[in-house]
Amino acid sequence: MSLVPTQYPATRLRRLRASAWSRSMHSENVLTPADFIWPLFVTGGKGVKEAVQSMPGVFRWSVDLIVEQAKLAHSLGIPCLALFPNTDIAKRSEDGREAWNADNLMCQAIRAIKDAVPDIGLLTDVALDPYTSHGHDGVIDAQGYVLNDETKELLIKQARVQAEAGADIIAPSDMMDGRVAAIRDMLESEGHRNVQIMSYAAKYASVFYNPFRDAVGSAGIFKADKKTYQMDPANSDEALREVAMDIAEGADSVMVKPGLPYLDVLYRVKESFKLPVFAYQVSGEYAMLEAAFAAGMLDKDKAVLETLTCFKRAGAAGVLTYHAVHAAKLLNG
Ligand code: PBG
Repeated sequence: MSLVPTQYPATRLRRLRASAWSRSMHSENVLTPADFIWPLFVTGGKGVKEAVQSMPGVFRWSVDLIVEQAKLAHSLGIPCLALFPNTDIAKRSEDGREAWNADNLMCQAIRAIKDAVPDIGLLTDVALDPYTSHGHDGVIDAQGYVLNDETKELLIKQARVQAEAGADIIAPSDMMDGRVAAIRDMLESEGHRNVQIMSYAAKYASVFYNPFRDAVGSAGIFKADKKTYQMDPANSDEALREVAMDIAEGADSVMVKPGLPYLDVLYRVKESFKLPVFAYQVSGEYAMLEAAFAAGMLDKDKAVLETLTCFKRAGAAGVLTYHAVHAAKLLNG
């Protein structure tokens, strides 16, 4: 707070807001396409563009077509893509072994994009849920409990094939304890020193991920919840412990997820640790906004830019958003 007492009419806060030039000159935060990471879903086949029912305007792309999307993103100034696979049910298994197949969809997409658009960053999700037959992020015991240390070993294998294929940022989203250190060790010892880790450090057990599970083909098979590994939405001190541990284990940046309902967590993390913090405006937030746009209840362009600006104000270095291309086009004029 300012130490100078202010009084009307000497002080009129509306003075600075009176014209467009003045508003733009005094704006405290500026949104640019460089703030966006664009999540994309990759699927099998050739020439395939499949609509995701629960996310209007979002598609699953086959590898050949995802390359075109990467070119589009790059031309708009979007610096980085986040990749997620839609794995054929026949390739799903109890332990999710397709995750460390060096020729799985993720690795194919990484290689194809790096080949065609070498200057765009690629962030790859590490968690077994797109590959397991039960839809959990790790391997489970007879009671359905996700086993931490056994899963961690498999995540190392998954991260390894991604790094070898050319991923720039490994993003563990599984919420197993100790996985950041384990992945960092692997990367250091296998010559991937400049491959970053952005940990999904404060990831909540949220209903807002439901449309995503449709996008990666887990919706029909996943009947449980992820409360034994993802965080309770009621907590925020715990988020600071998660972040502290991930930093100590070697995370270069961290993520808070979901986005809009969790801006207080984002703010606390940024204030406490002063490192790059990213927000994930998740699938359910996207679906919610799109439903309001479709119903004519909100102006799309304004709502997209306002919500994304709010992440910057709360302290985000950037935002993973399905609206990245739409917003970048608006910002580029
Ligand atoms: C995988 C993962 C999820 C999301 C990102 N990585 C789903 C989940 O944890 O159940 C959600 C992204 C979104 O909803 O947009 N663990």
